[in-house]
Amino acid sequence: MATERTYIMVKPDGVERKLVGDIIGRFEKRGYKLVAMKFMQPDAALLEQHYADLKGKPFFPGLVSFMASGPVVAMCWEGKDVIKQGRIMLGETNPLSSAPGTIRGDYCIDIGRNIVHGSDSLDSAQKEIALWFKDTELVSWGPTENKWIYE
Ligand code: RTP
Ligand code: MG
Repeated sequence: MATERTYIMVKPDGVERKLVGDIIGRFEKRGYKLVAMKFMQPDAALLEQHYADLKGKPFFPGLVSFMASGPVVAMCWEGKDVIKQGRIMLGETNPLSSAPGTIRGDYCIDIGRNIVHGSDSLDSAQKEIALWFKDTELVSWGPTENKWIYE
């Protein structure tokens, strides 16, 4: 079975609020494996591709300008069911609907400042990983599983 991968990104508000370490820590502690990471300020063209499905929504221009306003932390995480579990760890799109214990439920209140992005399907995960990373930036390392810690 191929190991599942997802694209997780700390948005400019998460970087500015110094939540990068907390977010990485949650994925590490859950048992997921970091495969790629970069700190960068994306331009509008990249973000328009990333959010292409939302083109035409009234909030699209504001979303792109906010996302281009500062650096983000782009990451690829790997492990069992990581796409769905990553979304659960993030919480709902609207932080006010997010349960405490989730990233958005713990740290934010505004839908347009919701700290973190996560791929919502296998198809979007594959597209997003390919959009943000070159193949050579996806690092293959270590044992895929530690049998004494994870099944
Ligand atoms: P993301 O892609 O950033 O992980 O968020 P998501 O899947 O939970 O939500 P999505 O529908 O993909 O929307 C992307 C981002 O656009 C902003 N948004 N604003 N004002 C609004 O009604 C509205 N709806 C969405 C949010 O910042 C959302 O994360
Ligand atoms: Mg989305």
